[in-house]
Amino acid sequence: MATVGTTTPTANGGKWHGHYPELGTGPLPLEVFTSVEQFALEREHIFRKVWLNVCRIEQLSKAGDYFVKDIGVCKTSVIVVRGKDGQIRAFHNICSHRGNKVVWDQNGNGSVFTCKFHGWMYGLDGTLRFVPDEKRFFDLKKDCLGLTPIQVDVWEGFVFINIDPNPQETLQEYLGEMATELAGYPFAESSATAFSWRAEVKANWKIVKDSFQEVYHVGCLHKRSLPDAFVSSDNPYTHMLDMKLFPRHGRASLYGNAAHQPSPVQALSYKHGSILVRSGFSENTLPVGVNPTRSTDWSFELHVIFPTFFVVVSEGTYFTHQFWPLSVDRTIWESTTYFPKATNLAQRFSQEYSRIIFRDIFLEDARTVEETQSVLLSGAKKEFLLKDYELLVRHSHNVVLNMIRGSDGKTIGRAE
Ligand code: FES
Repeated sequence: MATVGTTTPTANGGKWHGHYPELGTGPLPLEVFTSVEQFALEREHIFRKVWLNVCRIEQLSKAGDYFVKDIGVCKTSVIVVRGKDGQIRAFHNICSHRGNKVVWDQNGNGSVFTCKFHGWMYGLDGTLRFVPDEKRFFDLKKDCLGLTPIQVDVWEGFVFINIDPNPQETLQEYLGEMATELAGYPFAESSATAFSWRAEVKANWKIVKDSFQEVYHVGCLHKRSLPDAFVSSDNPYTHMLDMKLFPRHGRASLYGNAAHQPSPVQALSYKHGSILVRSGFSENTLPVGVNPTRSTDWSFELHVIFPTFFVVVSEGTYFTHQFWPLSVDRTIWESTTYFPKATNLAQRFSQEYSRIIFRDIFLEDARTVEETQSVLLSGAKKEFLLKDYELLVRHSHNVVLNMIRGSDGKTIGRAE
């Protein structure tokens, strides 16, 4: 018999909500997914204020490597670059002359950034180096006309930026205890190979996000793609093994059915490295925030970094989700699976097989969130109901509302 959960049920609010009575247990107002007013507040008081992951450090391994991220919700494009001095810097991707987007590529390597419009040239440190026909300008102060810098910092190889010129917290302070609990996970070794998927989804960013911070849906929505990997007679509704909330972030240990019967192709894939469910784990090598209960029925540890960055780790492999709001009902969804370097063709096959399995599962999620969003404005329903194991969903909504409530006192609703 699987042991699901390690904390004692409490009388007030259920097994998990009982530990966080301040969250309440009431319904969630549906309006938070459709309100243009709330979306504008989220843009100004969340996405333009917090640390946002933009890439991995491996994407900037050499001096001159750069990566460009268009962040629609922040109404900007960001250049992240490794300078000749090895330092990682970030800049708004806008020319000081007449506002052209300086770098149009998504990534590359160079020694300078040259604006395609009139040829102004910037160093990798953002300074303005060359202006064609400079003498015909009026009082040009080149020292003050570099690219506009953006705050940047790195945690465990994940590069974060903060659009706020004066962030209220450092990245380390923002990540807090959750980062400490994950310290020591071998992200660098596990990031040799990365496969990414990207899609524009017709749904509010919170609808998309919420579908990935609960696994109540697995036994129903994924019953064909994942018939027995995360569901068993002992745990038919995929109850989490453990959950923990941080001031803004959250973590959950996902159950895996150790008696899972893989298909012949899955079994071949498992044999060479990439598996969905583990039977056993290396207790001594995992950080305390990964399978903290040391359950033998553990599959993945879900780390939700507010507002929209998910790091889902197993042993030696991990994947991420990143959601980028475009409008109140449009979201860019990026998913990347990471693996150690394959040393033979069998391992390479195993990684490729996992990549496709993840894609097919994620497509089931994507279709569902679009269908959900398509009927939210019908007026037929006013509220969503959350069960005890949807604790991370409730927590996220409360963090959102607390942040926008702090802005001007307006609130759209409250998940309590
Ligand atoms: Fe960039 Fe003119 S807008 S050089």
